[in-house]
Amino acid sequence: MEQKRYGHFDDLHREYVITDPQTPWPWINYLGNEDFFSLISNTAGGYSFYKDAKFRRITRYRYNNVPMDNGGRYFYLKDGDTVWNPGWKPCKTPLDFYECRHGMSYTRITGRKNGVEASVLFFVPLKKWAEVQKLTLTNQSNEVKQLKLFSFEEWCLWNAATDMENFQRNFSTGEVEIEDSTIYHKTEYRERRNHYAFYHVNTPIQGFDTDRETFIGLYNEFADPQVVMEGKPRNSHAHGWSPIASHYIEITLKPGETKDLVFLLGYVENEQDQKFAAPQVINKEKAHALIAELDTTEKVDKAFAELCDYWDKLLNIYQVKTANDKLDRMVNIWNQYQCMVTFNFSRSASFFESGIGRGMGFRDSNQDLVGFVHQIPSRARQRIIDIASTQFPDGGCYHQYQPLTKRGNNDIGGGFNDDPCWLIFGTIAYIKETGDFSILDEMVPFDNQPGSEVTLFEHLKISMDHVIKNLGPHMLPLIGRADWNDCLNLNCFSWDPNESFQTTENVSEGTKAESLMIAGLFVVTGEDYVALCQKLGKTAEAERMQQAVDAMIEAVKKHGWDGEWYLRAYDFYGRKIGSNECEEGKIFIESQGWCTMAEIGADDGMVAKSLDSCKKYLECEHGMVLNNPAFTKYIYEYGEISSYPEGYKENAGIFCHNNPWVIIGECIAGRGNDAWSHYAKILPSYVEEKYQTLHKVEPYVNCQMVAGKDAFRPGEGKNSWLTGTAAWMWYTVSEFILGIKPDYDGIRIDPCLPETASDYTVSRKFREADYDITIHPNGSQKGVKQIVLDGQAIDGTVIPYSKGHHVVEVTM
Ligand code: BGC
Ligand code: NOJ
Repeated sequence: MEQKRYGHFDDLHREYVITDPQTPWPWINYLGNEDFFSLISNTAGGYSFYKDAKFRRITRYRYNNVPMDNGGRYFYLKDGDTVWNPGWKPCKTPLDFYECRHGMSYTRITGRKNGVEASVLFFVPLKKWAEVQKLTLTNQSNEVKQLKLFSFEEWCLWNAATDMENFQRNFSTGEVEIEDSTIYHKTEYRERRNHYAFYHVNTPIQGFDTDRETFIGLYNEFADPQVVMEGKPRNSHAHGWSPIASHYIEITLKPGETKDLVFLLGYVENEQDQKFAAPQVINKEKAHALIAELDTTEKVDKAFAELCDYWDKLLNIYQVKTANDKLDRMVNIWNQYQCMVTFNFSRSASFFESGIGRGMGFRDSNQDLVGFVHQIPSRARQRIIDIASTQFPDGGCYHQYQPLTKRGNNDIGGGFNDDPCWLIFGTIAYIKETGDFSILDEMVPFDNQPGSEVTLFEHLKISMDHVIKNLGPHMLPLIGRADWNDCLNLNCFSWDPNESFQTTENVSEGTKAESLMIAGLFVVTGEDYVALCQKLGKTAEAERMQQAVDAMIEAVKKHGWDGEWYLRAYDFYGRKIGSNECEEGKIFIESQGWCTMAEIGADDGMVAKSLDSCKKYLECEHGMVLNNPAFTKYIYEYGEISSYPEGYKENAGIFCHNNPWVIIGECIAGRGNDAWSHYAKILPSYVEEKYQTLHKVEPYVNCQMVAGKDAFRPGEGKNSWLTGTAAWMWYTVSEFILGIKPDYDGIRIDPCLPETASDYTVSRKFREADYDITIHPNGSQKGVKQIVLDGQAIDGTVIPYSKGHHVVEVTM
């Protein structure tokens, strides 16, 4: 049967083109690269915020709405009796043509109706605190068109959490000002806030509305606002209730005529003593200045060209040319793009993350770094310092921090014992990419306390120590609240459905709960740490940690092997988890991934057996599930993992994030065919067609979870965009499959490919050098035979770093 299709890739423009607005789920994009951000769906739904989706929400959004994805930036066009929107929603008037192009930090939505085309380009210009909406109207008919245009944005009262809770207050605080074609939102500016927002259009307006109920009507909806239906603004001035911003513009278009309008949603901060121009009147100087920078089509086009150029440069840092378009488009475009998005947002704001629950995750952000560090190393550097500044003096870590304040989040606290290791992981990736060892000398505080600063290197050291000071009865790492798997809560016992599994009491007295995942992670990062110490001439420290790593390897071999795979953990009472002896959850993916990456027991055949067991027990049509068999009942001693129905999330879902761990394990073991087949199963471009309807979520990015083989509907995707999968897919393909690995002294070449791979070229900018590296696999899965650098054969597999342009030929 022909699959229904909702869109396709356009590689030339680096866009995903959606041709039917009724996608199986809103397919979204992200705008903004540094401070001002927006989420935008394919029907123009979504919202904007400044830095922090919780504390500085600029426009309002209602999650889990009916209908889905209601509210956003809407343009209503009234042409005679017909009212329509370029993005189809909210009026849902059938369009003669619809298209949404999601590109690199921009989205262009085009609709046509009755001879009028309306195309809106949405983007956030570089370094600007504003979203541009450039609306281009074209009369494609033979008659003169008299159009009435109504814009629409709904303000959020800044704190996205209280905005949806505290109505007894909120309905009395809303305030706006109107000046010419600009509507200012200034709720709470009279008291402690020093920021406001505005919505501007670069043309005189013939009216406006700022009060939601006046504009929409109490018994109307976004789909039929009374003002639009009547074709007449009411010039309402909001006091309390729900302030909005709507411009009313009359437009006449001759046949063939085109007009551009530039709308600007901006954000401004003022110094305390500069807040007011007159009593009760906000100081609009900065807003005027921002508007002046973006008030013509030419200025906007220039800003857009700069944004495109910025992305060209970023993506050109790593480009591959293989015989496989589907691979190239993920590596060259979408995987790298998703890595920037996860770096920016961690797990905070998506259509599955409300932006109010979580800030930046400690482990999440460290992992995101490996997908991003090659793009803008200076931002990665700052991120590492920010993250490390939330660490505690004993090496433990706040599990999350708020991007606005950069302070650790007390609601969630600490006690996740894998967290410290990730700081080592992220920092080493940064140094290998940049060669910048000076980051290790940066003075970094604990818990943001001035006066507590020690070097970043000290932070890494206490991170290692945190693991070895918290070992359990088998000399394996104690798990704490949880390790990477937030849902394996072995010390948090809960019968109260109103408490969170993550923050409920953490019984650490007498616990025997140990993690094989942390053990593997410790060995991998520990070996990197030892190599770093050697590089720095810290021989004694290198030896000390090598012993700890060796001891951990022994502990895993002795107490962490189940015969066919690595155990997952020991519970509070010291009973095995992830063992053949268990009734359910006999095998887990995380420890297979980390212990094979660490090559623990490789010589004894453990690695090969573990990888085979992943294929045998975890693999299914859509990828590898997290555990098998799935838990069919709640287990008090295990926590949240067993709270999910079979096949979903951490209970035997395909948690895409950890599939790459096994794939890397396969690559290290040299099993290129297996690595590739696992990789292709979760590569969006490979499953694009199959998943248009089954998978539901965006086919251009990875999602966190695809329902596993035990699920009611295997293959359904959820939690798109904000997932560590992005960075791990990137790390896997760029470094382990294609085999281009940044290292302290140069680039290590070590591909692991399927036998069928043909020659390919990677163009890689690395520090101040450019390398064009052509690999000739010759049917081999692994093993570099010879490297020729600029015409000279070299010894070994590391291309020594030197500035300039270099041509490299690699024979396998
Ligand atoms: C989810 C996890 C997540 C955790 C964070 C759980 O409900 O299943 O994936 O990491 O919440 O709080
Ligand atoms: C999502 C969380 O953001 C991440 O930190 C965690 O490792 C995974 N879920 C697995 O539980």
